Amino acid sequence: MKMNISFIFILFIILGLSSLVNSQTDSCSSNLNLNGLIPFETTSLHCYPVWDSQGFILRYLQNRSNIWSFVLSAPDTNSYVAIGFSDNGKMVGSSAIVGWVSDAGVIKQYYLGGTTPDQVMPDQGSLQVVENSAAIILQSSRLYLAFQLNTTQPQSRLIYSVGQRDTFPPPNYRLLQHRDQVSTSLNYVTGQSTSLSPHSRLRKSHGVLNMLGWGILMLIGAITARYFRQWDPIWFYAHVSIQLLGFIFGLSGLIAGFVLDNLLGADVAKHKGIGIFILVLGCLQVMALLGRPDKASKVRKYWNWYHYSLGSILIVFAISNVFYGIHLGGAGSGWKVGYGSVLAILFLVAIVLEVKLWMRK
Ligand SMILES: *[C@@H]1O[C@H](CO)[C@@H](O)[C@H](O)[C@H]1NC(C)=O
Ligand SMILES: *[C@@H]1O[C@H](CO)[C@@H](O)[C@H](O)[C@H]1NC(C)=O
Repeated sequence: MKMNISFIFILFIILGLSSLVNSQTDSCSSNLNLNGLIPFETTSLHCYPVWDSQGFILRYLQNRSNIWSFVLSAPDTNSYVAIGFSDNGKMVGSSAIVGWVSDAGVIKQYYLGGTTPDQVMPDQGSLQVVENSAAIILQSSRLYLAFQLNTTQPQSRLIYSVGQRDTFPPPNYRLLQHRDQVSTSLNYVTGQSTSLSPHSRLRKSHGVLNMLGWGILMLIGAITARYFRQWDPIWFYAHVSIQLLGFIFGLSGLIAGFVLDNLLGADVAKHKGIGIFILVLGCLQVMALLGRPDKASKVRKYWNWYHYSLGSILIVFAISNVFYGIHLGGAGSGWKVGYGSVLAILFLVAIVLEVKLWMRK
């Protein structure tokens, strides 16, 4: 029975994580296969993921006569995708290549003179696009925005954005406000792309607090309750304290998340929904603590079952949402590896303690 529960637990985590993997098909491990639809050579382009949360992949190469080839690949959401070149990382003042495919494909340069739609001017900008080099291709649910720039060195501050889902720009080419955007710095030599995202400290706090609160302390508290019963009543106070601390951290992290959502207006409905669900479970657990029946009571068995199940569900969703949040925030694999290692250690500890528990029985 116990083995089954941990098996189901792990299965849930695997299912949760695999659903986060981008379903669209393009990655830097596969070659571009656009069958000559791009008007320039694309075989030896460098390739880097540049915006993980939106699945943006950038390929580029400089040839000997200062022609830079670019192919930006992004999931098609029936809206525009854009790559802007900026001197200072700000949208205003930059020039961007923007493309979409509605009935036909459109690819255009824009100058971003301001933040209102009428200040974003089509067919203007400072990029010297090589004649007849620009193309936009829709294939396997991905857009490929291809163009060449004639310059000794393109700007390294790159801005990416996506338009509102299922909304194409009108016939006068005026762009509506983007759905999401990111400002990055690209090192053309190493391919390292770092996000210059605003509010990065708040993002980090949000991530660390939630990871620590819901994703680590709750697990430690659960391990305490399951394996240290022999030390009564210390295990109980330890369990309650750790979970309360986790709850406080998690609640602070959630509040940071709401503030971020307000500031960034990002497209994170699922992440937010799961977060609220976790908070509800957390509140139910706190209420369960206050309303727990006496040990001798008949209903205590059911209460235990309820408390244990709710806690397990909370942990599964918390772990999934932490990984999902790292993915959305484009925080990079370092965070995933770091958190994954902590989880691995906790699981190992739990397995050892589980075996000990069995041997004692
Ligand atoms: C660089 O690319 C341009 C445009 O594709 C092409 O006309 C030119 O011949 C290339 N130069 C070299 C040295 O490969
Ligand atoms: C690139 O720009 C230079 C100078 O403006 C021009 O001489 C050259 O023909 C351009 N190359 C291409 C491929 O457009």
